[in-house]
Amino acid sequence: MDWVGRGNSRMKNVLVTGGAGFIGSNFIHHLLARTPVQRVVNLDALTYAGTPANLAEVQNDTRYRFVHADICDGEKVQALLREEHVDTIVHFAADTHVDRSIRDPETFYQTNVLGTLRLLEAARAVWAGDYTGKRFHHISTDEVYGTLEPGDPPFSESTPYIPRSPYAASKAAADHLVRSFFHTYGLPVTLSNCSNNYGPRQYPEKFIPLVIQRCLRGERIPIYGDGRQIRDWIYVEDHCCGILRILQDGRPGETYHLGGGNQPTNLEIANLICDLMDRKRPQSAQVPHRRLLQFITDRPGHDRRYAMDCTKIERELGWTPQIHLAEGLEQTVDWYLDHPEWLEAVIQAEPYRAWMHEQYPGEG
Ligand code: NAD
Ligand code: TYD
Repeated sequence: MDWVGRGNSRMKNVLVTGGAGFIGSNFIHHLLARTPVQRVVNLDALTYAGTPANLAEVQNDTRYRFVHADICDGEKVQALLREEHVDTIVHFAADTHVDRSIRDPETFYQTNVLGTLRLLEAARAVWAGDYTGKRFHHISTDEVYGTLEPGDPPFSESTPYIPRSPYAASKAAADHLVRSFFHTYGLPVTLSNCSNNYGPRQYPEKFIPLVIQRCLRGERIPIYGDGRQIRDWIYVEDHCCGILRILQDGRPGETYHLGGGNQPTNLEIANLICDLMDRKRPQSAQVPHRRLLQFITDRPGHDRRYAMDCTKIERELGWTPQIHLAEGLEQTVDWYLDHPEWLEAVIQAEPYRAWMHEQYPGEG
């Protein structure tokens, strides 16, 4: 396969930021397994959300290097870009949980806005106008567009930004900065805005792995408000394939939407997982797992619905999601059932316990 496409990203030496987290680690596995990449450097600050355990399978791969650092440390980032002759940056590192952003917006501003700015500045300084074969790809979210009502058309790449949570606002600011570096300095950037991901290695503060782990422990499953909020769920592997297509053939300066084409309510998702658990653990004392569902106070400013129009990437780059929701959910449940040690290490650690205590008070 001729790897380098029209997008002209050389993709020999790739810097992945936030590669110890959920999507970044899946992307690194994908990159090493499916592309002729020569070097993958994972720069991650190892916040509560990142763990080297997510890269255990590739830690002895000579193409892979882990660097424990903060994206806000511009000098360190610049030194690394030079040392590793990085031609491609894929920027995942962020604070990502909406509920945490409601409690602590400043951290989100620091990581997502300032961190992205430092990274952009480092790329501009080191690449110094020689942009042949270079690419800065920024990973963003559908949440920058705000919320939809049930009958509204999906978000397109030209929908105005109306972020409504501190997380979404910080990602929106980062997106604007990335685009400004294209227009002002010619930095060869691309962006992808993706819908809610699910799959292996997702930190169980997020809804789907939270439901799975609550089923396993026989603890109540918290459903915010009426549970009728809608997300467009995409399997993480489909997201990774979409990013690779953009790196190969995406046009510099462009934004591409990625989504799963799903519109279930949160309650439907929780029910699907409970039913899967009934099937996979028929002897469990928790059967039927649906009895664990509990409606609790809604999230402030809770976005009602997200939906993504992905016709641009389908038309230009031939990408469509491949994994159906039922199939992806089953694979996800299987992964968590097959990796009890991973789950146990995360949920026994202090940051997880502290967060559960703060966010869901009154539980054991
Ligand atoms: P995650 O929370 O699982 O992982 C984030 C990673 O970034 C962690 O490994 C963490 O240690 C690292 N990190 C945080 N601050 C850092 C810093 N200052 N310097 C270096 N590393 C730092 O996140 P995720 O769910 O994998 O999301 C990755 C990216 O994808 C984010 O940019 C997010 O906005 C975007 N995104 C996520 C989703 C989703 O559903 N999870 C959907 C669309 C877009
Ligand atoms: P989440 O995984 O936090 O992703 P996001 O807020 O970025 O969409 O939440 C997904 C949906 O699930 C969202 O509508 C909020 C809801 N939710 C609950 O009902 N209960 C919970 O305990 C959590 C964490 C989320």
